[in-house]
Amino acid sequence: MTSTVSVITSASPARGLVCRACGAEYPLAAQHACYECFGPLEVAYDQAALAQVTREQIAAGPKNIWRYAGLLPAGQDPESRVTLNPGLTPLISAPGLAAAIGLRAPLWVKDDSANPTHSFKDRVVSVALTAARGLGFTRFACASTGNLANSVAAHSARAGVPSIVFIPGDLEPGKIVTTAVYGGDLVAIDGSYDDVNRLCGELVETDEFEDTAFVNVNVRPFYAEGSKTLGYEVAEQLGWRIPAQVVIPMASGELLTKVDKAFAELVEIGLVEAPAGGWRVFGAQSAGCNPIATALHGGTDRIVPVKPTGIAKSLNIGDPAAGAYAIEAVRRSGGWMDYADDDEIREGIRLLAKTTGVFAETAGGVTVAVLGKLVAAGKLDPDAETVVFNTGEGLKTIDAVAGQVGPSHRIGPSLRAAREAGLLG
Ligand SMILES: Cc1ncc(COP(=O)(O)O)c(C=O)c1O
Ligand SMILES: [Zn+2]
Repeated sequence: MTSTVSVITSASPARGLVCRACGAEYPLAAQHACYECFGPLEVAYDQAALAQVTREQIAAGPKNIWRYAGLLPAGQDPESRVTLNPGLTPLISAPGLAAAIGLRAPLWVKDDSANPTHSFKDRVVSVALTAARGLGFTRFACASTGNLANSVAAHSARAGVPSIVFIPGDLEPGKIVTTAVYGGDLVAIDGSYDDVNRLCGELVETDEFEDTAFVNVNVRPFYAEGSKTLGYEVAEQLGWRIPAQVVIPMASGELLTKVDKAFAELVEIGLVEAPAGGWRVFGAQSAGCNPIATALHGGTDRIVPVKPTGIAKSLNIGDPAAGAYAIEAVRRSGGWMDYADDDEIREGIRLLAKTTGVFAETAGGVTVAVLGKLVAAGKLDPDAETVVFNTGEGLKTIDAVAGQVGPSHRIGPSLRAAREAGLLG
């Protein structure tokens, strides 16, 4: 099962797995940690193969993430894909939001709530499960803070593959129902996400789970690559330009590192020119779960795990696997990180909705609130083009704002009542 198998066809530009910590190299297989130093592995590419990809090829591809198949580790053959065909989500001009927070340069919202299960996780799951099926796995699984659960259950249903999804027991009903409806096993654990993740790390080692791909455990290197497509899309949708600043929500920190990696790859293979002065990467967490931002603020890259609290449950990873790499990307690029408390998150959700017509989940509220804080603190340049990422859908966390908004009037069904309520001026 874990031997090097046919996941990688000759059309794949991936050449192996490489340890992010010590650089040790491994073949493409279901392995996520280095045998030398236990560091995390990521996919390494044949640069010459990546450099074959042209803008024209991409433009002629499907209207989803697979237009970038030449830059991904698996899925070059359409028949091999396990997918809901996510991607090419709207990049929305947001002048109203820009004005509200004091940004003078163009501001864009990359709205990934428009994906099939309404979060960016469809990108990572499509890539992970395509690789997993190529590696011979016959059951799909994950440890999830909610959105990943939705996506793994839905992908498995579409592919006709059994699934088993593990979540913390206290997730929002909007995340539980939207997973359970697809069938498959859904295991609610009495514990935090970090407890769930630890258990999945143990299960994956058992004989009974030998045939099971946990998208964010044993096939994590492939999973992580799916996030690059967010970076590719932003650049393509801007007319093959990289924005000067991006603001990205963080749970494990992986998404942030992969958007940065995507921009670097595009420059390296000559598909875009780096903006003058490069691009700056900014990270957003909640005050209830801010171990990555706290480490950056403290001038270290040593993450001290926390016990998460607060309403941004999808971001509640207390021991973030890619935290140190997120800090590295933010420091190297000249960006920054900050965090928002629950009231600020609610305000962020409402501000985005009122100014752009996009209803975000709590993670989007975190990101918009942090965007505002970064501008106010002078960390984000108000005269530089900025993209802010909304990674999830407001209907899944409706309770976050349900107590704050409602009908502006309640009247009887008559003209008189309408007049009395002042609706006729
Ligand atoms: C809506 C949403 N945004 C952002 C993230 C952060 O992803 P990462 O773990 O790659 O930092 C998550 C993770 O679950 C999420 O659900
Ligand atoms: Zn290593």
